[in-house]
Amino acid sequence: MTKLRSRVIGMGSFLPPRVVTNEDLAQLMDTSDEWIVQRTGIRERRWVEGVTSTSDLALQASRRALDSAGLDAEDLDMIFLATLSPDHFFPGSAVFLQTKLGLAGIPAIDVRQQCTGFVYALSMADQYIRTGSAHRILVVGAEVHSKGLDKSTRGRDVTVLFGDGAGAVVIEATKVETPRSDAHLLSTHLFTDGAFAEELWVPAVSTAFDEEIVDQRMLDRGDQYPKMNGRQVFVNAVKRMPEAVETALEHNGYEVADVDLFVFHQANLRINEAVAQRLGAAPEKVFNTIDKYANTTAATIPIGLDEAVRAGRLQPGMLVALAAFGSGFTWGSALLRW
Ligand code: COA
Repeated sequence: MTKLRSRVIGMGSFLPPRVVTNEDLAQLMDTSDEWIVQRTGIRERRWVEGVTSTSDLALQASRRALDSAGLDAEDLDMIFLATLSPDHFFPGSAVFLQTKLGLAGIPAIDVRQQCTGFVYALSMADQYIRTGSAHRILVVGAEVHSKGLDKSTRGRDVTVLFGDGAGAVVIEATKVETPRSDAHLLSTHLFTDGAFAEELWVPAVSTAFDEEIVDQRMLDRGDQYPKMNGRQVFVNAVKRMPEAVETALEHNGYEVADVDLFVFHQANLRINEAVAQRLGAAPEKVFNTIDKYANTTAATIPIGLDEAVRAGRLQPGMLVALAAFGSGFTWGSALLRW
């Protein structure tokens, strides 16, 4: 029976040109290249300069995704933008992206699921395609972390981990007749456990603390910067990502060995090595960009997909598994026949 499914028809990514090495960070805070590389596998990351915002990075990645699909912005029916570092408190950044693309009228929706944001956005977009409500959707992950990090020694456990960047895909409705071979998104699986919300979060600006959303005491405490229980994040990430991949494979009747490429969210190389080990996946099937871009949160997976295609690692017909874990805690997976 023919089924309406999503298919990726274009992708693009954009990394701001300014490279910030571990040595550069050691000039700002008490850290070292050795500590960062040993604990995380990160060697450098990108930071924006000047007034560049999240929607600016999203725009560049989106244009590239549209170009690679051979489409104009006018061909889109919807936009989803996943980010934890929006241009403003409100409205969402998708509306700024929409207008920068020269569009008006179509729905432009922000997704706030942090490192799992792209998987959530892809899943939501896929539901519109499956029901026939939309034909072509732009799904973007973009982050400007560098403006929201504590660059003193107080913030070193978090600040060394993050970088700026954006990635985008265009998905299109396709009629799948032979599910085992036709290119399409097979499934997405999403999970949340809000009991862990404060293990990785930015406490302020906040409606939860006081009468004003921001006051001097919040700033004095550094509540505007991310706070993380690194160990708790690590332990949960290495458990939840393999579970999410296994759920996807089971749901579709595949085994780990059937997967040609894994594109995981990348917070720490050690996390992804542990995830691959737990799954029993061959390390060479895991595509990594963490050494050069660090954790770009919602942008990591679409950047990874774009780079994997450019590197010739992701080719038509391959089975590709995506998985992410992040603040919330949120986690999820997607399985695609490329
Ligand atoms: N440079 C140098 N020293 C640092 C440092 C840095 N950037 N950050 C922390 N340290 C210090 C700590 O202060 C601590 O010092 P102490 O022993 O004197 O107290 C020491 O290094 C060890 O810290 P610890 O937190 O035990 O290190 P770790 O081996 O657990 O690694 C992380 C820390 C953050 C790399 C690790 O917990 C991790 O990767 N967690 C997951 C993070 C993540 O994925 N976040 C994003 C999720 S989407």
